[in-house]
Amino acid sequence: EQSSELIDSKSFTYKGCIFSVAHVLERLEQMENYDVRDSDVYVVTYPKSGTVWMQHIMKEIFTDVDLDDSENKASYLQVPWLELKIDSINTDDRPSPRLFVTHLNYDLIPRALKKKKGKVIYIYRNPKDVAVSYYHFRIFAKYMKTPKNFETFLQEFLDGQVDYNGWFDHVKNWYDHRDEFNIMFQSYEEMSKDLRTAVQNMSKFLGKSLDDNRIDQIVKSSTFKNMKANPKSNYEDITSESFDKTVPGFMRKGIIGDWKNYFTVAQSELVDKIFQEKMKGFPLKIIWEQ
Ligand code: A3P
Repeated sequence: EQSSELIDSKSFTYKGCIFSVAHVLERLEQMENYDVRDSDVYVVTYPKSGTVWMQHIMKEIFTDVDLDDSENKASYLQVPWLELKIDSINTDDRPSPRLFVTHLNYDLIPRALKKKKGKVIYIYRNPKDVAVSYYHFRIFAKYMKTPKNFETFLQEFLDGQVDYNGWFDHVKNWYDHRDEFNIMFQSYEEMSKDLRTAVQNMSKFLGKSLDDNRIDQIVKSSTFKNMKANPKSNYEDITSESFDKTVPGFMRKGIIGDWKNYFTVAQSELVDKIFQEKMKGFPLKIIWEQ
């Protein structure tokens, strides 16, 4: 039985999960048995839910005391992607505490985490805004299939026929298995509405006591506007051949409710219906609008 299959020139599956060709199979195969350290921190997100934002925030939370040369390094070097193998980025062989971001689903995540080794912060964002953000990202990323139009993309998104499969399964599976992990759940929208409280809660969960002044600095540097202007956080220096720099990229709008500019009433109702079916009993609050 094959665990990996090619879908088209831009994507393949590994153990039932769709990956873009930016990933290499060999790395994915190593993930379940990845050597987790007690001090590791993994920020887990479904795509387009605030990953780059969290790379910046995590770097800031651990700056000064813990991270080597942190002021001078881009956040994707200090808080690299777990499942991507990029030659210029040292993902594994770093001093503790190692900080990571990952989109891996519950099935593919390092097993040691399920024995409460390391810590996990799971970030979730309302799926309508995720769909809009994902749609734009597909136009921006050359290693992904360019969507025909929003309508076609939304259908693929709802069918789980996109990289990392469906939003609903990703969020639900992580939540249903929460007792296996040292985990906290954090909503993108709550961060957007009250970043200070979110940063405080996350620092506390990570065992970092930061004084008010430091929290204020972190909050200030993590606003959309300030991150967009910060070359260490905005990804602008990342290789241009992989992205179409003429369209909005990682730092697109960063707002709650942009879906209203894209969804028809029927599309919105369809997502509500699927949400009610698939997320029955899901207790975390999803914020749909500002
Ligand atoms: P939009 O496309 O809706 O603007 P990811 O990093 O997981 O790919 O998620 C990208 C989304 O996070 C983008 O959403 C991006 O604008 C948003 N984002 C990045 N930094 C942010 C910040 N500081 N505040 C709010 N949203 C942010």
